[in-house]
Amino acid sequence: MKNSCLLLCVVIFICMEYICLADFDNLQDTCPTATQAKQTVFINGFNCKNPANIASSDFKTSKLNHTGNTDNIFRSAVTIATAADFPGLNTLGLSIARTDIEMDGLVLAHSHPRASEMFFVSKGNVVAGFIDTRNKVFQIGLKEGDVFVFPRGLLHFCFNSGFEPATVFSVLNSQNPGVVTLTGAMFGPDSDNVLDKLVRQLISLSGSKLNGVGNMTLAGFSIM
Ligand SMILES: *[C@@H]1O[C@H](CO)[C@@H](O)[C@H](O)[C@H]1NC(C)=O
Ligand SMILES: *[C@@H]1O[C@H](CO)[C@@H](O)[C@H](O)[C@H]1NC(C)=O
Repeated sequence: MKNSCLLLCVVIFICMEYICLADFDNLQDTCPTATQAKQTVFINGFNCKNPANIASSDFKTSKLNHTGNTDNIFRSAVTIATAADFPGLNTLGLSIARTDIEMDGLVLAHSHPRASEMFFVSKGNVVAGFIDTRNKVFQIGLKEGDVFVFPRGLLHFCFNSGFEPATVFSVLNSQNPGVVTLTGAMFGPDSDNVLDKLVRQLISLSGSKLNGVGNMTLAGFSIM
């Protein structure tokens, strides 16, 4: 029973890969980003390193090995490794991120135009959610070991709902997911006052029903 479920999952995953592959397939085994070379030809992705110089270290990153700097208004830090700084990812359609959130910290609503995101809670308790195109919010409490998924392009957010710092790792299906922030898009980068209100509003949401799918609309995030 367990095995057939697993098989089904694998089959579904493979089918999904073909239907909604975020990045194009690679045309060679590997193509680590040529980080040193001065870019003179602009292509979809990055130029490959000279194959003669490809090394194992191109496929390793230590960028996520430490807690990010959470000393900011949101008390959170997101560190992401994309093909730009993790050469081995070039042409693989993948990137990885680490999110650290202090108690009462949060990551404001944002979206990745080119990737869905698998969100794995490594430590702590968080509430994660996304908002679909009908303004319906799907949010739920997650504990250590839980995985949530943010569909490609949809606004999503998360906040620490526990009493200790939380750490979450995400895998995204694009080597360059991109990020569009709600506040950046709507109010410009210098809207501290607005952000402050938004933060308080979001934190007050953590007192509301956390499990199950709610139907708060974007109005729940209104800044009035
Ligand atoms: C993280 O990786 C860097 C680069 O390899 C290394 O200098 C640093 O000591 C590592 N930090 C931890 C906490 O392992
Ligand atoms: C959610 O929507 C359903 C059906 O539209 C409604 O009955 C319910 O009261 C709503 N719940 C909340 C919390 O607004």
